[in-house]
Amino acid sequence: MLVLRGGRVIDPARGYDEVVDVVVEAGRVTRIGRDAGKGLGGEKVRVVEAKGHWVVPGFIDLHAHFREPGFEYKEDIASGLRAAAAGGFTGVCVMPNTKPVNDTRAITEMMMARGRAANGPRLYPFAAATVGSNGEQLTEMADLRDAGAIGVSDDGKCVMNSAVMRAALEYARTFDMLFSQHCEDHDLTAGAQMHEGTISTRLGLQGWPRAAEDVIVARDLILAELTGARYHVAHVSSLGAVRLLREAKSRGMQVSAEVTPHHLMLTHEALLGFDTACKVNPPLREPEDIAALREALRDGTIDCIATDHAPHSSLEKDCEFAAASPGMIGLEPAVPVLLDLVRDGSLSVMRLVETLSSAPAKVGRLPGGTLKEGAVADIAVIDPERRWTISAAQLSSRSSNTPFLNRDVQGKAVLTIVGGNVVYES
Ligand code: DOR
Repeated sequence: MLVLRGGRVIDPARGYDEVVDVVVEAGRVTRIGRDAGKGLGGEKVRVVEAKGHWVVPGFIDLHAHFREPGFEYKEDIASGLRAAAAGGFTGVCVMPNTKPVNDTRAITEMMMARGRAANGPRLYPFAAATVGSNGEQLTEMADLRDAGAIGVSDDGKCVMNSAVMRAALEYARTFDMLFSQHCEDHDLTAGAQMHEGTISTRLGLQGWPRAAEDVIVARDLILAELTGARYHVAHVSSLGAVRLLREAKSRGMQVSAEVTPHHLMLTHEALLGFDTACKVNPPLREPEDIAALREALRDGTIDCIATDHAPHSSLEKDCEFAAASPGMIGLEPAVPVLLDLVRDGSLSVMRLVETLSSAPAKVGRLPGGTLKEGAVADIAVIDPERRWTISAAQLSSRSSNTPFLNRDVQGKAVLTIVGGNVVYES
């Protein structure tokens, strides 16, 4: 038995925000209430004093890259799950752009087995939508779903051919899988290094126009409506994409979208020093995009926050800008970085927790996301005041490619619980 005593319990699934005790038994939340833990103690009971801390549903990341198989020197499933636990995440969806690409049952099964063996957060693979993520031939989605894949995506690449995309959505619908699209018209982004705008002109770098995202979102919304598939926009970065999503949702379409912490916080100006840690796909954009993304997160046009945790080693990052791989780690920096939005009044605590827990659980149809009595005990305890430095030595991830590296920050997951078991504490 585990008792979390006197924490601020925030459960967005039922709009609950109270200072109470939480009792966990046999992997489930069994009691929540002002004195639910009173008098409980003894050898078989662990009591955690949570006063001043937030007790929230464990976070669920709909978008991360663990590099196993193929690039374990950047991150493997075990190290990725350790990073997740340290960030307060109890569930992580991993993208299939491994080597080989996760486009077969054998790879999905291997990932699931490695995930289980790690005894940490739950691992949910996305399988590729097309063989080799080459955008041509559909994968065996029924097989992949039976092996454990929760959805399909060619993330890192966009399914460019509209006929293939239509068929992929039809298959995904048949097998009730979420389709997560990396919205990028690759013809419009050929050679691109960063957002197309004044900074790319000044730096002499090829630009990635917003339009490359917007045309794919527009096309996909039309195809999602035609097919009725569960369609999800990965890492929305442009104000045009927000506008299209808002219009689709206002007509009642059941589509969903995620935004990353870095697209909510950083602009293309971060690239001025040619910092490869800021090179990411889609690219960091402009203040008006950030304003639109934040507004969309508040009003529900964007459902959730996903990290797009993309570990790379110094081999891919400590090099000239054009040769650097895009991506940044996100699982461990997420809490302190996002808390800045709460501290500056841009987002309520309730909505922040919702976009990291109950909302992604709903979009992915995944367990967890609530702390009501009887729920699976996937829990994060957050100390919003804890000061720490995002340093390579502090990070559990095998990589440290983040623009927030060596920054002194405030806010940290201090206890992460999966199925009633403590998988991280600090
Ligand atoms: O920046 C990115 N990195 N964007 C992607 O879509 C892929 C990811 C990666 O795998 O490194």
